[in-house]
Amino acid sequence: MISVKDNGSGIPQNILGKIFQPFFTTKPTGQGTGLGLSLSYDIVKAHGGEMKVESKEGEGSKFSIILPVS
Ligand SMILES: Nc1ncnc2c1ncn2[C@@H]1O[C@H](COP(=O)(O)OP(=O)(O)OP(=O)(O)O)[C@@H](O)[C@H]1O
Ligand SMILES: [Mg+2]
Repeated sequence: MISVKDNGSGIPQNILGKIFQPFFTTKPTGQGTGLGLSLSYDIVKAHGGEMKVESKEGEGSKFSIILPVS
């Protein structure tokens, strides 16, 4: 498992379930594709793994990639 944590804005609970969807973005129009996490999720899945997120608004977010060893 590889985890990456930040101390950024955090992700509100009501959008946490949408962030891995293709084209979902909260960035202003023309600035985000909403494909970053969706592509990452698909790549990890294609390797038989899992990608998870934990986040608290105002505190930060932690993304975890869990890959099988064999
Ligand atoms: N580390 C983070 N902290 C807070 N919000 C995040 C974080 N990572 C992702 N998000 C939220 O998830 C949404 C989707 O992320 P994703 O990387 O798929 O697209 P994006 O960053 O908006 O666009 P792009 O990948 O093209 O830059 C973001 O718009 C943001 O709302
Ligand atoms: Mg992104």
